[in-house]
Amino acid sequence: MKFIVAITILVVTFFGIAIDGYNCKVVQFIFGDSLSDVGNNMHLSRSLAQANLPWYGIDFGNGLPNGRFCNGRTVSDIIGDRLGLPRPPAFLDPSLTEDIILENGVNFASGGGGILNETGGYFIQRLSLYKQIELFQGVQEMIRSKIGKEAADKFFQGARYVAALGSNDFINNYLMPVYRDSWSYNDQTFVDYLTETLRSQLKLLHKLGARKLMVFGLGPMGCIPLQRVLSTSGECQDRANKLALSFNKAASKVLNDLSNSLPNASFQFGDAYDVVNDVISNPSNYGFSNADSPCCSFGRIRPALTCVPASSLCTDRSKYVFWDEYHPSDSANEIIANEIIKKLGFERVDQTDAPSPSPAIAPSFED
Ligand SMILES: *[C@@H]1O[C@H](CO)[C@@H](O)[C@H](O)[C@H]1NC(C)=O
Ligand SMILES: *[C@@H]1O[C@H](CO)[C@@H](O)[C@H](O)[C@H]1NC(C)=O
Repeated sequence: MKFIVAITILVVTFFGIAIDGYNCKVVQFIFGDSLSDVGNNMHLSRSLAQANLPWYGIDFGNGLPNGRFCNGRTVSDIIGDRLGLPRPPAFLDPSLTEDIILENGVNFASGGGGILNETGGYFIQRLSLYKQIELFQGVQEMIRSKIGKEAADKFFQGARYVAALGSNDFINNYLMPVYRDSWSYNDQTFVDYLTETLRSQLKLLHKLGARKLMVFGLGPMGCIPLQRVLSTSGECQDRANKLALSFNKAASKVLNDLSNSLPNASFQFGDAYDVVNDVISNPSNYGFSNADSPCCSFGRIRPALTCVPASSLCTDRSKYVFWDEYHPSDSANEIIANEIIKKLGFERVDQTDAPSPSPAIAPSFED
């Protein structure tokens, strides 16, 4: 018994961030939109961006809706699992406590949210990136009063950060003529405005302690089913795809600049645009049979805003690139996550001292 205790202490000293006897785990803080939401919008009762009805979550855990805008896992779920990090709970989950935050981190992502405050107004309630950062500051206060400033600083500097937003700034703002931004900017000036706003937000996160951060770029958003139905031929919207490429290029430069100029910052940019584009052009090469319509759809009424209980499901969810009008399926997310991991070259985070409390729920496709 003594021997085991000795080993445990040794391991804790090696791998934990030991500060005055307090061992902090490496956890994640996730900022994002519906592609990363794990339940925040479920608690925004007036939000129109909801994944709280069947068949969302059908391939995750018990199969009930859990707030993810997907049948299974998000890209952040898959990447975090691969890194050996616990899955952070939604900030608005009423059971969130300081202890849970110290063990698991927090996910602030909210469906409909954007880099810009004005994005997604149509959804009535959503957390934009600035709001998410404000909530993160509140979390920092809570942790500081729980473990003290010095330990809290180490905890937040040792954590991993993900910021994955931008598609709503186009799809639910700039590209919709009902919004002011669509007539106040042109393609170039809008991308500049968006990426300069992102630059300020990332600098703010660095000021708040973020050192290891990754930003996910945009996919070919002109090819989501919702965009395809805008044309009678069902082709991808070329302009939306060009905007995604232009955003990715500018955001990549922002991340590079920040990584080179901010002290101790390892800020990385990863996108899976090319791979997703290839999946969409050659779905059978990747085991998909459909790359242009949603697996969950409301018969011939398209686009339906969300998947609802009355919708019909495709027979094999693993063979569809898109789960609903906006969001990739679990299988497509796996390809996206693999590509980002390949590009950014992650190594597993060793947390030998603390067994992962993550639910470790693997989706199953045995249907
Ligand atoms: C964006 O919203 C935040 C609050 O969430 C506010 O502090 C900030 O001033 C707003 N920024 C702009 C440019 O409106
Ligand atoms: C950068 O890292 C060094 C070594 O860990 C540390 O002493 C220094 O305070 C850090 N600076 C900032 C701004 O994080």
